[in-house]
Amino acid sequence: METVFSAIQPTGGFHIGNFLGAVQSWVDLLGKYRCFYSIVDLHALTQDYEPKDMAPRVEEMAAELLAAGVDPDKCTLFVQSHVHEHAELEWILNCVTPYGDLTRMTQFKDKSERVEVVNAGILNYPVLMAADILLYRATRVPVGVDQVQHLELAREITRRFNGRFGETFAEPMPIHTKALKILGLDGKQKMSKSLGNALQVSDAPDVIRKKLQNAFTDPTRLRKTDPGHPESCYVCGLQGYFASPEETARLHEGCRSATAGCVDSKRALAENVIRYFEPLREKSAELRAHPEKIRQILGDGAQTARKVAQETMRTVREKLGLY
Ligand code: TRP
Repeated sequence: METVFSAIQPTGGFHIGNFLGAVQSWVDLLGKYRCFYSIVDLHALTQDYEPKDMAPRVEEMAAELLAAGVDPDKCTLFVQSHVHEHAELEWILNCVTPYGDLTRMTQFKDKSERVEVVNAGILNYPVLMAADILLYRATRVPVGVDQVQHLELAREITRRFNGRFGETFAEPMPIHTKALKILGLDGKQKMSKSLGNALQVSDAPDVIRKKLQNAFTDPTRLRKTDPGHPESCYVCGLQGYFASPEETARLHEGCRSATAGCVDSKRALAENVIRYFEPLREKSAELRAHPEKIRQILGDGAQTARKVAQETMRTVREKLGLY
């Protein structure tokens, strides 16, 4: 069975873009691969944050992943910083990674434009990703479009390591996830909690209704009597994920024939989203009421992960010729 590695930053709970992109594919891969899934708190350190918020963010992310069906009996779910080898392998991989490869990463360029001081962690971010993957000798990595370039770099780093120290790691290959890029409620930028355009899975029903009321729709449809274009409308595009094919077809037809306005479309979407995530929200709240359960699961996960990581590092240290 091939090994999969994937990871998500502890942003607190996830938004519907994370859910449709990453989380759902994590669940789909269970049983088909040996899966290692990590909550990557070390990656999150590259952004400004409040230390007191970090632990709750990790815990909330874990609760939602578990509630979404990331079954700890079928995968290894753990927190990145609990396995010290991530940072160790990252340092080693830094030493085979050309600086120029890092500065030309699109995400590095975007992120460094948005902050006042560009810390070296932002630059080395993809090297830590490569370490995450190689530590478990994962050959498959589910990625959305925004991480494709980072995975290519991870492959390049793998080749450089193998070229310098002898064949050690197989090159990790992508698994392209089905919902590739979910735009934010502004309909312009990628959905992101930090950009303030995200619909969170844990948002209360009223918050979901309110956020969707203000969502971007079809700019060419000025009046309710204008026929809509469901194929290019942001709200209509989301409908398919949360309603049955029949209901989606009906909603799209209403929009196209101008019998339903954008407000109606948004209302229908809000109710469907609320219903869709109801079980997940309940399950996650239940888990959060018992944080010791979450700690136990993540502790077990770290133990399993550590064993594999330590084994890999033994080989790596040998290859490097360390004393
Ligand atoms: N950078 C990824 C993201 O923000 C998260 C991540 C960290 C990751 N390490 C990884 C994804 C390794 C895949 C493989 O989405």
